[in-house]
Amino acid sequence: MDERKYSEASEVLYKGRKVRAGMDFNKPEVFPLFPTVSFTMNSLTEVREAYASKYTYIRTCNPNRDALAEVVTYLEHGEDSLIFSSGMAAISTTLFTIMKPGDHIICNRNIYGETFDVMGKLMNKFGVETDLVNFDDVQNVKNAVKPNTKLIYSEVCANPTMNIADIASLAEIAHSNGALLMIDNTFTTPIAIKPLDWGADIVISSLTKFMSGHGDAISGSITASKKLIDEIHPIRMLCGTPGDPYAAFAMMKSFQTMDLRLKKQMANAAKLAKALEENPYVSKVNHPSLESFPQHQLALKQFKSKETMSGMMSFVVPEDDRKFDEFLQALHFAHYAMTLGGLHTTLVHPCTSSHSHMPDADRRAMGITPGLFRLSVGIEEAEDLIADFTQALEVFGK
Ligand SMILES: Cc1ncc(COP(=O)(O)O)c(C=O)c1O
Repeated sequence: MDERKYSEASEVLYKGRKVRAGMDFNKPEVFPLFPTVSFTMNSLTEVREAYASKYTYIRTCNPNRDALAEVVTYLEHGEDSLIFSSGMAAISTTLFTIMKPGDHIICNRNIYGETFDVMGKLMNKFGVETDLVNFDDVQNVKNAVKPNTKLIYSEVCANPTMNIADIASLAEIAHSNGALLMIDNTFTTPIAIKPLDWGADIVISSLTKFMSGHGDAISGSITASKKLIDEIHPIRMLCGTPGDPYAAFAMMKSFQTMDLRLKKQMANAAKLAKALEENPYVSKVNHPSLESFPQHQLALKQFKSKETMSGMMSFVVPEDDRKFDEFLQALHFAHYAMTLGGLHTTLVHPCTSSHSHMPDADRRAMGITPGLFRLSVGIEEAEDLIADFTQALEVFGK
């Protein structure tokens, strides 16, 4: 006779919970995954303790996100960080926290398309005014300052032309006018530059790209002062934009090889940029390591060396779109992908993808011509990449 008091189905559920609660983690070498929506409490005393120690519900706090945030804070030389469900979640949640109707943003006009739309369309909908300015000359930024300017926003390197923001000068303009400087470090990462050291107040990264490097998870981060992070945290909770623990766990794994990957990718990019500049079918190469790059001196000042600037670059081939498919198909290593920062070398054609919605004249004014390809350099051997591009570019000579 079965003398069990409860059904097996209920006991299995109960034991599953108890086993987990009683588990001694015994100092695992790898930070464990906490795929739990909530944390259990056995008394109201424990509930109060849980609120004080923060782990109650997944949207509020999760150990995987917190562990990842700690590493990001360390890398960016900040006081504190928050992890989000994507780079865009990090940007929009931060803007929803710090901006209010009537405030003004000065934003670099050369930025990622969706950030451009958040700054323009989304912010304007909530009564925030945005001026899109050419940041190549900081005087343009000075001239755009208004009494209600609350934020200056730029990426370290613009997509896809690689124009560099002069972070120290922008910080000075922001701070002497009571505004904050927010910098997107996605193209460069804290391995190349730490914008907070140059005076920025907030640094945002799409971790989805170089910092992950494996193209298998989406996530974003914000690093700033503890005070600012404490203000953004409750808004992240209300917007529902924190990242899930699985993505944070995947990122944590990828972060352990970040230094190795990035140093190789950035050095490869500098070597490939130089080789492409010498190629007869390439009329222009945009990479800050090149002496021909208009802001090369600023690049030398802001980055540690020519080999540690960015794994991103762009180059211009003859405007013969009948040859573009042939060129792409001739490449052995590089392949077309609508992302960047992965282990493999990838490229995109901005006029057909990211900037396809823009009138040709506007694109050309930004240096985005029909012959321009944007390249994200991977961890292959530089000599192999150079040989591969050299043979594929021959299609333009046929
Ligand atoms: C410079 C830059 N910032 C932010 C983002 C947004 O990141 P995510 O796709 O993780 O939302 C991207 C995406 O490509 C980007 O290139």
